[in-house]
Order: sequence, then C-alpha cells, then structure tokens
Amino acid sequence: MRDQAASLRDKFKEAPPARVGAGGSVRSLSFTSGKGGVGKTNIVINMSIQLAKLGKKVLLLDADLGLANIDIMLNLVPQFTIEDVLTGKKEINEVIQIGPAGIHVLPASSGISEMSELTGDQQMSLIRELSNLKDAYDYILIDTGAGIASSVLRFNAAADEICVVTNTEPTAMTDAYALMKIMATKYQVKRFNLIINQASSMLEAKGVHEKLVSVFNQFLPVELILTGFIPRDPNISKAVRSQTPLSVLYPNSPTAKAFYLLAKHIDANPGQGPDPDRPNFFQRLGLWKKR
Ligand SMILES: Nc1ncnc2c1ncn2[C@@H]1O[C@H](COP(=O)(O)OP(=O)(O)O)[C@@H](O)[C@H]1O
Ligand SMILES: [Mg+2]
Repeated sequence: MRDQAASLRDKFKEAPPARVGAGGSVRSLSFTSGKGGVGKTNIVINMSIQLAKLGKKVLLLDADLGLANIDIMLNLVPQFTIEDVLTGKKEINEVIQIGPAGIHVLPASSGISEMSELTGDQQMSLIRELSNLKDAYDYILIDTGAGIASSVLRFNAAADEICVVTNTEPTAMTDAYALMKIMATKYQVKRFNLIINQASSMLEAKGVHEKLVSVFNQFLPVELILTGFIPRDPNISKAVRSQTPLSVLYPNSPTAKAFYLLAKHIDANPGQGPDPDRPNFFQRLGLWKKR
C-alpha cells in the first residue's frame, strides 16, 4: 500500500510551484517557543511591520491553529480563515487580509486543534492553496503555537529558519531547549536564531544565550545565534489592549527601535537562506511526514 507521503508527493506534482519574492527567493521564518506566553505573537507581528517598513513584502501566517491571536492583536475581523480554505469554501486570496504597513495576513481560527488532526485532503488543499498565492513575497513569517505538538514541529521543519523566542525565566529557557533538542535530533536542524524577550539589557540577553549554548555544547552540535533582544515594556501590554501593534502605536519608542534592529539583523543575515536545491516551504510542508 502506498504511504500517505507518497500520495501527497504525487498530488503536489500537480500543483504549480510557489511564486517567489522580488529578490528571487522567499525566506520563510518560523517564530516558535517551548513555553507559551513568552511574546511570540507580539514579536512576529512587530517584525512583520518592521520588515514591511524596510520595503519587504511580507506574509504573516497565523499557524497557532488552536489559539489564533494575530487577528485580535491587529484588530482585524476576518470573515474567513484558514479553516474556510481547508474546507474548500474559499480560495486563499479571498482569506488574506491587509494589516498595518501593508503586511498580508493569513488568519487562523481558534478551534482547529491540530494540523495533524486534519485529513490528508485538508492538508493538501492548504498546501495547494498556499502554493497558488498570486502575490510574490520576500518573507513569510509564521507564528507557531507553543510547545512540541506535531503541528508546531511541522511548521518549524518546513521553514527555512527557526527563530526561538524565550524570556529570561528558567522555565521558558528549559522549554526552549527541549524544543530545540527535538528539532535538532528528529529534524536535523543545525542552526537556531534566539530572540530573548523581556530582557532588561543586552548583558542579560547574552547571559541567557550563554547558558543555552553551554547546555548544547555538552550534548548537541547546534549553532545558536543570538539574534537580539526586546526589552520589557509595559507599552506592549497597552498595544495589545488597544489592538494596535507597538510599532504603530509608539513608532519612536526604544522598543520599536529594538524591533527595527531585530528586523534589520534578520534581513542582513540570511543564514543558510532558502536552498534552491531544497523543496520550498510549501513543498516541505506537504512532504512532511510524521516521524
Ligand atoms: N517585551 C515585553 N514587555 C512586557 N510585556 C510583554 C512583552 N512581550 C510580551 N509581553 C506580554 O506577554 C503577553 C503574551 O505575549 P504573546 O505575544 O501573546 O506571547 P505568545 O504568543 O508567546 O503566547 C502579552 O500580552 C504582553 O502583555
Ligand atoms: Mg501567540
């Protein structure tokens, strides 16, 4: 009997290839964490806006399928979501919303528990729809759920680069390590970008980075890059309450500057970047096989 992956591969052959960004290739970055509530959604939203301000075309994908938050934080009232794409009711271009600074947003709906619970046909319709996107993007930023659920691992495995978000608490650091360990051992990921949220200074962020590096050095050959840090700022909570991202509400604040620096850093350091010989993000999502 043919396995599911083989049939997905065949089906994918029928779909046209994904369009690529103006620079010739689209970079996909997942924003993920071991522990929930560490600031992923705020970071990915502000990063999207800062990259758009740098002139990049950005698609922000809400892949926290169970606890979708992006539409609420952006005060979007999506009529349709990924769910409507999955059930074949809508095409992806009808679902995409325009957010601040012209970012494109693919909203999810709270209530779909797990990508892994979707049928093969539903997965395929999402992948085919994603690959049919009319717009070319420079970046696809993916807000994953927290933890080590299969859908989180899957989106991380499909992305070109993984940005792990942690704060300075030992629980968040331990959970970040657990997630990276799984991605390294099961999915052969060799390189992670580390973003420290709610740090009081670069010195504190460096301390968190060094601790994680020292654990890895003992057990796994993994490159952990300190991409940057975001300070603790009560204005983030105000921004969430007013459903307006901090980069829009307080564009000249030190925290908006920190998001800008993070975006500049990521834009200037493509890491291993998209590998032309590797299937692209959408194909990898489709070819992903539960291990
Ligand atoms: N840098 C920060 N400074 C202060 N509060 C923050 C910061 N980042 C996040 N928060 C708070 O933490 C909450 C959770 O952030 P969120 O982005 O929703 O996390 P996650 O997506 O990882 O669950 C936010 O509502 C906000 O109040
Ligand atoms: Mg979130």
